[in-house]
Amino acid sequence: MIIQTKYAQIKNNELYIDDVRVSDLVKQYGTPLYVMSEGHLRDKLEELQDFMNQYEKSLPLFASKSFSCLAMYKLIKEYNIGIDCVSAGEMSIALKAGVDPDKIYFHGNNKLPEEINYALNNNVYHFVADNFYELDLLERIASKLNKKVFITLRVVPEIKAGANEKIQTGMKDTKFGFPSSEGIYLKAIQQVLESSSLVYEGLHAHIGSQVFDLNAYKEEMYKFMKFADEIYQTFHIVTSKINAGGGYGIAYTKKDKPLKFEVITEAIMSIIYSHYDQRGWTHPSVMIEPGRYVTGNAGITLYTIGSIKEIPGMKTYVAVDGGMTDHIRTALYNAKYEGIIANKASEKKNKIVTIAGKCCESGDILIRDIKIPDSVESGDLFAIFSTGAYHYTMSSNYNQLPKPAIVFTYKGQSRLVVRRQTFDDLIALDIE
Ligand code: LLP
Repeated sequence: MIIQTKYAQIKNNELYIDDVRVSDLVKQYGTPLYVMSEGHLRDKLEELQDFMNQYEKSLPLFASKSFSCLAMYKLIKEYNIGIDCVSAGEMSIALKAGVDPDKIYFHGNNKLPEEINYALNNNVYHFVADNFYELDLLERIASKLNKKVFITLRVVPEIKAGANEKIQTGMKDTKFGFPSSEGIYLKAIQQVLESSSLVYEGLHAHIGSQVFDLNAYKEEMYKFMKFADEIYQTFHIVTSKINAGGGYGIAYTKKDKPLKFEVITEAIMSIIYSHYDQRGWTHPSVMIEPGRYVTGNAGITLYTIGSIKEIPGMKTYVAVDGGMTDHIRTALYNAKYEGIIANKASEKKNKIVTIAGKCCESGDILIRDIKIPDSVESGDLFAIFSTGAYHYTMSSNYNQLPKPAIVFTYKGQSRLVVRRQTFDDLIALDIE
């Protein structure tokens, strides 16, 4: 069993997060409950900030799709780093939290006209442009509003990386970005250069998520350097911004061996800087966009165990009071997790069980074949680790289960940052 954050500890047979006993959290806030260690989040944000500060003009962007709520955007604002937003919805929360619009980068493969209007009217003018339709829309809307839009082009590097095919985004066959084959991306740059409202700044790629292979990042950067040369040869301009995307993997289980953040980022920086130095070009502004790296291991979901069902000669299902509604990644990606009974945290683990949710789906399984203590009983608390990324943001109300509350823990204290949904919330949009 591993706990992937130093902020979670076991003392007297009980699990603690940021020195708060989880059974106390459950008494106060109920289950299911998303707990985010603010200590862990702050460490990661500080690391991003400190590391990237070494490189002039560089900026880490937090991929906010991994975990977006007001409290998180406020933390990002506090650390003064940038944000990757993929919809006007994400942007609206970031802006509400007071994030500087100049630090917001608008991504997405099908930005809607109303989203573009929303962004420009709110002074968000850094766009990671994805396709020709978007360039046309941007040109039209920006010139009407008399605004300038700064363009980073998402270009497909044709690289295979990422934990499974649903989260691989850098291959030739992808819905994201301008193809690099047959010089298509050069035509896009030409269109930007010919526009009076669009300003070409640079290149972006995101090759995939849960990337454990350093070579994938290196290959991506070598491709980008080749593109930067082609752009220089064709248009005589130096690409002034390189955004290497996110994808930094984390450990969910003991089997996962992620690369160190600085190993990936140093490799990215050194390929870019040495290429630019060789050509006598001014160093570009470099960006990275980690999401899961910041939030993943900060999260722990707490559940109450209900039914325990033994199928003789087969398996034991231990069911909890949440499920695929608050934890979709096992069903969707066959993702693996570790967990413990939080109130029996140091007891010997001899019994192999499957942790199931309460949704009306056979696939509603959270962890398969995990060892827990024989003493497991209804009413125990089950904690699943590393649930900070793509859990709350991918949650749903299937079976009309209310979404859990979110609590931040820090230095022995807890604070509610998102309240639990009520039954009234479930019909808040219904018209009677
Ligand atoms: N930048 C771009 C353009 C992205 O599309 C993403 C993730 C990121 C950065 C951040 O990736 P990260 O560092 O978190 O791996 N729902 C999936 C992951 C999909 C990610 C989508 N884009 C999951 O639960 O694993």
